Amino acid sequence: MGAGLDLTRRALFVRAMISSPRQVGAVWPTSRRAVRGLLDMADLGGARTVLEFGVGTGVYTAEILRRVPPDARVLGFEVDGRLLRAVAARLQDPRLTLVNDSAEHAERYLRGGAADVIVSSLPFTTLPAATREAILDLSCRLLDPGGSFLVLQYSPAVLGGLRRRFGRVRRRLCLPNLPPAFLFACEGPRTEGGR
Ligand SMILES: C[S@@+](CC[C@H](N)C(=O)[O-])C[C@H]1O[C@@H](n2cnc3c(N)ncnc32)[C@H](O)[C@@H]1O
Repeated sequence: MGAGLDLTRRALFVRAMISSPRQVGAVWPTSRRAVRGLLDMADLGGARTVLEFGVGTGVYTAEILRRVPPDARVLGFEVDGRLLRAVAARLQDPRLTLVNDSAEHAERYLRGGAADVIVSSLPFTTLPAATREAILDLSCRLLDPGGSFLVLQYSPAVLGGLRRRFGRVRRRLCLPNLPPAFLFACEGPRTEGGR
């Protein structure tokens, strides 16, 4: 489990979980193995624009910044202002913009253009269905045709929603995570008569 996470960050996460369990949807931040496993499913080294949905304690954000080129931009969305402020204090990088707003509004901040990679650890199974559907639609719309939408979940329930929108969905299971994590990489919009 998130070996590099200090106690303050873990405590902030647990506190957020207790006050908004359906919004946080996890008891513990994602493990390093799962973060790396998910990010390995896309080409972050070649990405110019990356969106992250559900920054939390910043476990993905730090690894995304390690992987993207010097001229990339990374927009991270998180609704919990307390979690986001802690990440902002720790990760100061000119490529990173942290946004205290719902991922549903990502298009406003992208200001045209497309995302090469979108990384989501949002709890799609516990978010309101309308929010989930809006974010899945938006991700499909904002993704560059050659880009990847990476999703970590604790159940495979979102698979149908991903397959309805994307032409190719790859899956992996990551056991070294509490609980074991389902990793998805989605590419290309689904076309009429597509898979
Ligand atoms: C399962 S936690 C993942 C946190 C972190 N990325 C990790 O893996 O440790 C989900 C995070 O998504 C945030 N979140 C929930 N709904 C959101 C939304 N609509 N837009 C942006 N962030 C949201 C929660 O506050 C929480 O921090």
